[in-house]
Amino acid sequence: MSSTLRCIACDARHEPREVRYRCARCDDLLEVAHDLDRIGREHGGGDALRELFEARLGSRERPYHSGVWRYHEVILPDLPLGDVVSKPEGNTSLYRVEAIERAFDAAELHIKHEGENPTLSFKDRGMTAGVSWAKHLGMARVACASTGDTSAALAAYAAGVDGLDAAVLLPRGKISPEQLAQALAYGATTLAVDGDFDVCMRLVRELSAAHPVYLLNSMNPFRIEGQKAIGLEVIQQLGWRVPDWFVIPVGNAGNVSALGKGLIEAKALGLIDRLPRIAAIQAEAADPFHRSFLGGFRERVTVTARPTAASAIRIGAPVSHDKARRVIERFEGSVVRAVGEDELLEAKTIADRGGVAVCPNSGVALAGLRRLRTEGVIGRAESVVVIATAHGAKFSQVADHGEAANRPRPVAAELDAIVAALGL
Ligand code: F0G
Repeated sequence: MSSTLRCIACDARHEPREVRYRCARCDDLLEVAHDLDRIGREHGGGDALRELFEARLGSRERPYHSGVWRYHEVILPDLPLGDVVSKPEGNTSLYRVEAIERAFDAAELHIKHEGENPTLSFKDRGMTAGVSWAKHLGMARVACASTGDTSAALAAYAAGVDGLDAAVLLPRGKISPEQLAQALAYGATTLAVDGDFDVCMRLVRELSAAHPVYLLNSMNPFRIEGQKAIGLEVIQQLGWRVPDWFVIPVGNAGNVSALGKGLIEAKALGLIDRLPRIAAIQAEAADPFHRSFLGGFRERVTVTARPTAASAIRIGAPVSHDKARRVIERFEGSVVRAVGEDELLEAKTIADRGGVAVCPNSGVALAGLRRLRTEGVIGRAESVVVIATAHGAKFSQVADHGEAANRPRPVAAELDAIVAALGL
């Protein structure tokens, strides 16, 4: 075996095939701990691993054509390939648009568009790993709480597996119609709960503790392993060059935890030679992680999250707080910020108008970039990768912003009227 389950606080080890989400000794979060020395040795070190991943790029071979399973050896090396449930996912574009760079006054800005995944969000990367592991364990029922994207991904990946039923707990009236339509279309049992995401999260934890229901929120450490692939793929797309900054929106804090874990392992394996800085950005309406950061992480703040256009990150008690805190502390020079509604909508509009249609949650990250450029924390010449976590098409009700709003103009079905409307 190349991996065990390790408690992030007390280092206690657990058998990875045991269904367990928290440490038996101290109840903290668990992570999949890989034997990196062994993986490095078996595959001939960092250079050889890089070559292996390069050789698979463009491959049609399943599942290596996936932007997650291309990195199988460093994702879940003990998972037999026959158990992999893949669409495939990943292989998303890294956009570089001059107009957007100009608008953010950044000389080298890449937008990693995770909205190009099969269910239009980054959640597919974690879910391919989580559902594969559920299949490997022979689970019959999986569940999650969600602000709409995890549920879409869970429903989609479970739908492809015989004998696997999915249930999703959603905060009623607080997710977008498109996200809801996804869970329904893929056939998941969809429960609209009278409460917010944090209530759904508590309920699904209680459910999975008391019943044979496999929990597939990012508290499940196997999901984090798949999500790690975002960082690896970005760096491969940059020719194995590490950018100065990753800027990432934070809700439950699974994504930033995964990004950090993947990069630390990549460095230990010799795939990269340094670590970037990370900017974790929240919406002011749901900013517990930011508040914890401002207090030097001396205490773990929770809030009652308020409504925000960034509805997917309307979370008051991030489950992966402790993992994310360790990432921010470990990656020297990393920062956390919170941005307002106008800022996030304006930033989203800039990306949209530049031809990269992002969700309002991604707008939070972009607004964070703008703020950090203004503060001078991110220098103009520094290379920046913003993770756009979902596609704008999932949030059509947040399509446009303020005075810049683009609206359909009613016009008669006559050429003259059209010519006049176009000012020709
Ligand atoms: N962006 C989008 C589009 C999301 O859906 C989420 C989380 C995040 C950012 C934040 O990522 O939670 O790892 O910090 N959505 C979860 C869900 C909570 O249920 O879909 P995180």
